[in-house]
Amino acid sequence: MNFLRVHGGTPLSGEITVRGAKNFVSKAMVAALLGEDTSELRNVPDIKDVNVVSGLLKLHGVLVERDVASGIVRLDPRNVEIAHKADIDTHAGSSRIPILLCGPLVHRLGEAFIPDLGGCRIGDRPIDYHLDILRQFGAKVEKLESGILITAPHGLQGTKVDLPYPSVGATEQLLLTAVRANGFTELRNAAMEPEIMDLIAVLQRMGAIISVDTDRVIRVEGVDRLGGFTHTALPDRIEAASWASAALATHGDIFVRGARQADMVTFLNTFRKVGGAFDIDDDGIRFRHPGKDLHSIVLETDVHPGFMTDWQQPLVVALTQAAGLSIVHETVYENRFGFTDALVRMGATIQVYRECLGGLQCRFGQRNFFHSAVISGPTPLRAADIEVPDLRGGFSHLIAALAAEGTSKVRGIDLINRGYEDFSGKLEALGAKFEQG
Ligand code: EPU
Repeated sequence: MNFLRVHGGTPLSGEITVRGAKNFVSKAMVAALLGEDTSELRNVPDIKDVNVVSGLLKLHGVLVERDVASGIVRLDPRNVEIAHKADIDTHAGSSRIPILLCGPLVHRLGEAFIPDLGGCRIGDRPIDYHLDILRQFGAKVEKLESGILITAPHGLQGTKVDLPYPSVGATEQLLLTAVRANGFTELRNAAMEPEIMDLIAVLQRMGAIISVDTDRVIRVEGVDRLGGFTHTALPDRIEAASWASAALATHGDIFVRGARQADMVTFLNTFRKVGGAFDIDDDGIRFRHPGKDLHSIVLETDVHPGFMTDWQQPLVVALTQAAGLSIVHETVYENRFGFTDALVRMGATIQVYRECLGGLQCRFGQRNFFHSAVISGPTPLRAADIEVPDLRGGFSHLIAALAAEGTSKVRGIDLINRGYEDFSGKLEALGAKFEQG
């Protein structure tokens, strides 16, 4: 499936289900590599990122059994082995997950070869924190012609790390390395996202000793051996918020089965301030357009417990339908407003700025990054030909096409499959009018 021809103007309404979080499931699968026994992960969605991690683990001798319908993945890492670099290289550019295999592979096999990374083009996305952390554990990092080779001639030793920024990936890198390193590790300025707390839960089930303080400090006491785990993945709060924004932008009414209030408190506050209505149930959240004007807001993205950067792009589409001037300051990624060009072509009034607007100075102020946006609404959206730029931006373009009058062509749809399970099936269930091409 390469493109969708979307006939906009129909409110999305009905029920869909979200399963496990993309940004947790892949990491839990990597964690299984650290164990000497089999693990079982439940609530795993059928998305491309899961295929990429399965492929990488299989190359290293892990037996991966997957039942897509029930969402159960069994991982048997008892016979891990060094993979051929050429085989690993076939995964170059497919995802950012391979960098997280470093610690587990060095613990199990003494070395790790990591291909050049992929992931969404939403900024530079360096890996300096990851490599610094590995070096602090005593690893040797060598840049090869393609990819990076990590070894640990004297083993991995517990260490003290103070992150310059609470990076999700770097915090996971530290956890996946520290749990089997020799001695104590302390991480300051750690990321505290719910997906990280779920990863800590998995590692604890495997036998790790990890404590979490309230001031972004994580302490790990290394152990010699880890076993397997059985765990049900937390729901995907990014997918849930994407459908919530879709309900708002299209004047719709969507029950998102699986959405969980505890992980979405900040999103729900913002959704309410925009004027969106929601009803919370034990097994999901119903999001709906209130039937009257939406309100403009001032919003800043941030690390947890702030407003997630991944929630920003879908919500911006809904803000084009709010009355007045909204200001959105993106402080996590320096380049996450590229997707607004297509919205402007569709009739939205959005201006992006280099300045930090609406809040405190962030890391990107006084530099050449267009990381603040002013959205003036409401503006009717009209159909257009659009190329999907990245995962969340792509979903946002789809929402815009569904809200617009007329027929849009949205190309490069496959990118959306990386993180949204059966999204065309879900669109159909919500009454969207489209054809696949
Ligand atoms: N950063 C560095 N150096 C590093 C690592 C990060 O400068 O070595 C910077 C990044 O450039 C960015 C900031 O730190 O400006 C935060 O990046 P972080 O490491 O937190 O992000 P990540 O681990 O690469 C994960 C998710 C992203 C999500 C972010 C923030 C996965 C696979 N990806 O990325 O998800 O936006 O955390 O919550 O877990 C998505 O799902 O569409 C997505 C992009």
